[in-house]
Amino acid sequence: MIQIQGLNKSFNGKKVLDGVDLEVRTGETMVIIGTSGCGKSVLLRHIIGLMRPDRGSVSVDGTELNRIGKRDLYQLRKRFGMLFQGSALFDSLSVEDNVALGLRQHTALTREEIGEKVESKLGMVGMAGSGKLMPAELSGGMKKRVGLARALSMDPEYVLYDEPTTGLDPISADRINDLMAGLQEKLRITSVVVTHDMVSAGRVADRIAMLHQGRIIFCGTPQEIKKSPDERIQRFIRGEAD
Ligand SMILES: Nc1ncnc2c1ncn2[C@@H]1O[C@H](COP(=O)(O)OP(=O)(O)O)[C@@H](O)[C@H]1O
Ligand SMILES: [Mg+2]
Repeated sequence: MIQIQGLNKSFNGKKVLDGVDLEVRTGETMVIIGTSGCGKSVLLRHIIGLMRPDRGSVSVDGTELNRIGKRDLYQLRKRFGMLFQGSALFDSLSVEDNVALGLRQHTALTREEIGEKVESKLGMVGMAGSGKLMPAELSGGMKKRVGLARALSMDPEYVLYDEPTTGLDPISADRINDLMAGLQEKLRITSVVVTHDMVSAGRVADRIAMLHQGRIIFCGTPQEIKKSPDERIQRFIRGEAD
């Protein structure tokens, strides 16, 4: 379980997070929605300790990130997979090498074992046999899937997705949605998905939280959010700027 309490973060005197409270239950897919620039990526970075809060806390299974040293933080991070915005593949490395990065750095597995693991993760995302390709040879959707295979390489308990469907055509986006939903169903992975894509949110979320002006102003099921009387939420769902 991930518990976020009273999280505050400012950059150059500008408040981005202003007391975020949120609980992500083990096994659920929590989708965080909000307008562009509202602080979704910043929030995600706090969850794996890539950013430190000015105030407040993030706890993972009862361990508060701010209270542990660097080494423990690295250990904890191994339990997380992250799909970064824009996939963030290394262009000079093959698909296989991109997916193998974490395994080579953080495990004592042999070359062969790593090769098998990489192929199995590529299979999970529908990219079996593509290990020798270079990122430049892939479509946007394929890059995202390779990014997802890399996020899954260390068999994480938690996967964090930053805008997994942004910039994809509807068919590729749906494929990613299906993959995310499947991971939750088959592997019981706990997921946090940050997106401004309401279609994607509705497809994969157990619960949706809306970040607005530095706070979570709503948290509930996809059915509940549709019925929310809050005008700020309805405007977002309708795709209108605020
Ligand atoms: N490392 C940083 N230094 C300064 N400002 C930042 C940094 N990261 C994010 N911000 C600012 O925080 C705000 C929220 O950014 P972000 O979390 O990326 O928004 P989004 O909801 O689109 O993911 C933006 O105004 C952004 O410019
Ligand atoms: Mg972002």
